[in-house]
Amino acid sequence: MHGIIFVLFSKFVREKHDMKTLFKIQEEAGLKFKIHEVNKSHPDEEIVALLQASCKILKVELTDLLESFGYYIAPELLKTYKSYLNPEWKSLDLLEHIEETMHRVVRSNTPDADPPKLEISRISKDQVRIIYTSPRKIISLGVGIIKAIGDNYQEKLKIEQIDIEDGTQLDIFLM
Ligand code: HEM
Repeated sequence: MHGIIFVLFSKFVREKHDMKTLFKIQEEAGLKFKIHEVNKSHPDEEIVALLQASCKILKVELTDLLESFGYYIAPELLKTYKSYLNPEWKSLDLLEHIEETMHRVVRSNTPDADPPKLEISRISKDQVRIIYTSPRKIISLGVGIIKAIGDNYQEKLKIEQIDIEDGTQLDIFLM
């Protein structure tokens, strides 16, 4: 997983809780002395260990943790990848272009990073469909990101989530 996700995860725990809680989580995950460099890719097992340790220590469900983490990282991701955003886009236009802009740039800049495969279609002016297939199965992170994108553009989005054969389908409606 891309180093930016690790760096933002530490920041997320520090801001929502404190440094002591972060140390506890790192210790529980067996990663007390590990430094995750931002521009490199790191083993997926390490983010999984940090997430599991967080659920245990903070006594939260993984789905809820992922969603609030996704909501937290979206503004940072948007800032980092600002130059790839068309200023005329609103929420659904941005979502429609995530795969061929943001995730493509992540793939070419950090070859070991492997953002999920998103099949995106613009069903109508007011609806985008995202089909997510990834062995990591952490779509709740994406749900949090989408909610934050809506808030960023001050638009109300409704998200319908259904499990399909190899993954998850999200239908996002502009309300
Ligand atoms: C704001 C634009 C976005 C940027 C800059 C961005 C960037 C990234 C980056 C850097 C990663 C880590 C990839 C890796 O290390 O392999 C990632 C992972 C991920 N992204 Fe995006 N992303 C964006 C929007 C979205 C959206 C809208 C979704 C909604 C489905 C999404 C879903 C995910 C998920 C679920 C992961 C976790 C990895 C996985 O499940 O395989 N992202 N993204």
